[in-house]
Amino acid sequence: MILKALDSLPRRRNKLWKLETVVDTESSSHPLWNTFQLDLEKVTNLEGLTEVRDSYLGRQRGLVALEMRKLGQFPPSERPEAGRVLNELKNAVLKALETRQTELKKRRDESRVREERIDTTLPGYNFKTGGIHPIRRVWREMEDIFVRMGYTVVVGPEIESDHYNFEALNIPKGHPARDDQDTLYINDTLLLRTHTSPVQIRTMEQHQPPLRIIAPGRVFRRDSVDATHSPMFHQMEGLVVDEGITLADLKGTLEVFFRELFSEETRVRLRPSYFPFVEPGAEVDISCIFCGGNGCRVCKRSGWIEVLGAGMVHPRVFSMVGYDSERYTGFAWGMGIDRIAILKYQVDDMRLLFENDIRFLSQF
Ligand code: DAH
Repeated sequence: MILKALDSLPRRRNKLWKLETVVDTESSSHPLWNTFQLDLEKVTNLEGLTEVRDSYLGRQRGLVALEMRKLGQFPPSERPEAGRVLNELKNAVLKALETRQTELKKRRDESRVREERIDTTLPGYNFKTGGIHPIRRVWREMEDIFVRMGYTVVVGPEIESDHYNFEALNIPKGHPARDDQDTLYINDTLLLRTHTSPVQIRTMEQHQPPLRIIAPGRVFRRDSVDATHSPMFHQMEGLVVDEGITLADLKGTLEVFFRELFSEETRVRLRPSYFPFVEPGAEVDISCIFCGGNGCRVCKRSGWIEVLGAGMVHPRVFSMVGYDSERYTGFAWGMGIDRIAILKYQVDDMRLLFENDIRFLSQF
């Protein structure tokens, strides 16, 4: 196009000369042109291209510049032609470099796109996620059921006084339940609570009936670790106080609870037992959740599994917190959360619950 336009221009030398400097020259007759082409052929990337550009077009040491400097050695008559040829060479070099640069850039961009392409059909990474500890899991489940029945969740201190842990629960000094073997004392009056029952007392001291609470938490006993014992375990205490509360309410409540927790078929039975803070007291069994009561290894062929202690709050406990035991009655129960977890998840060794072996925990 430019060449064609040039033909139609008036052939005035100076003008032509100026125009020629911007002409898109495709090749050159200068001997350097061949060497340049060979050098250019070897170039495979943009860095290499810059090197070639510098070695030909560099202002100081570029080969073309060196040729320019030699122009003065030509006889004056040959100078214009030599200059023209050199200029043509320079333009041809520029043009070739530019073309090659465009090519190389295109190739670089294409390979980048290829390398950085994201294959959205590849399978994703598997992230390790945490789980909820089996104890915490049943704990929450148990809480949920009682909260739905209108219970309030309360907590008490793990370091407890002798008074709340024993005395106020009608366990006077010298009672077997206070046995040194079982209790971890801090000093004469402070100890690690051996059960969640002291929360009953603390709650009744602070609130008037009607009361409907559960109190989950850690408890401590001087036990050595084995498949069924741990010096720290978890209990959930329950307490209901109002006018006209009976043993039937206790049984009905526990039935609703266990049917919700295990299955609709679960049956509950109370066996008379003794706890100093209730009268009457009972041990509560549920029909075996594994064999449905027919007898299996878990229930030791009895069809029943013992799950908690319960009873009607002892009038002496009421009087110790200033409740009128003529007017109010109540029931209380205490159950082992760990024991429920073991049953629910069929864990055969309690230690698994406390050792935090990730292979065990990751199943939950
Ligand atoms: N505190 C008792 C224990 O740790 C369990 C218990 C039994 C709690 C009977 C009660 C109850 O509230 O009425 O073995």
